Amino acid sequence: MLYKPSSEKEEVDRWKEVTLVYNSALKEVGTKLEILNDEFQHVHQYNPIEHIKSRLKTPESIVKKLKSKDLEATIENMVEHVNDIAGIRVICSFTSDIYRIAEMISGQNDLTVLAVKDYIENPKPSGYKSYHMLVTVPIFLSNKVVDAKVEIQIRTVAMDFWASLEHKIRYKFEGNAPEHIKTALIQCAKMVSQLDDEMLSLNNEISKL
Ligand code: GTP
Ligand code: MG
Repeated sequence: MLYKPSSEKEEVDRWKEVTLVYNSALKEVGTKLEILNDEFQHVHQYNPIEHIKSRLKTPESIVKKLKSKDLEATIENMVEHVNDIAGIRVICSFTSDIYRIAEMISGQNDLTVLAVKDYIENPKPSGYKSYHMLVTVPIFLSNKVVDAKVEIQIRTVAMDFWASLEHKIRYKFEGNAPEHIKTALIQCAKMVSQLDDEMLSLNNEISKL
């Protein structure tokens, strides 16, 4: 193999820039969500967002995902084909808040919504519920502007509780959990939906008083 120090350095620089861009994208979208939450509090005396979690995908999981898609692990492929390098999870109290937040995000002029997956209307076979949005946000660097993709997952506290446990179980059994555990999880997902519905109607009732 030819040793090419200059191109290796270029590759490392490019990797650092890409990481910086995704990190900035997380900050931009995170700040936008905080501003929307503060404004909502100001207008309606109510916070639709309980909390926000953000994370950058690890290089290991990026490579794993590219492999699962039969793609070579290159920076170009990762930027093009891995949509959740920058991920933000927005946790709210009620199902109605999810759609309110999604609408507020869609209304932001500098964000472009590339795709929406409504797993609340159409839950996954696992029982998973959440509202996913894939957006791009422009990042202003000193000499150029680049668009960065951010995956936003919006869900209630109860949906989040379910998803974290299900994720742990899935990980433990490497995706092949015993049938009775899968069935129990689907049952729990139904209970979570019922709890969300009841909490929402209770909240609507007390709001009217
Ligand atoms: P991934 O390759 O898994 O990212 O799937 P995708 O690109 O088809 O997107 P999808 O919207 O299905 O899922 C994106 C993300 O949603 C995942 O990385 C998880 O964080 C979450 N997710 C999707 N399905 C499930 C599920 O059944 N259980 C849990 N706990 N999380 C899920
Ligand atoms: Mg993902």
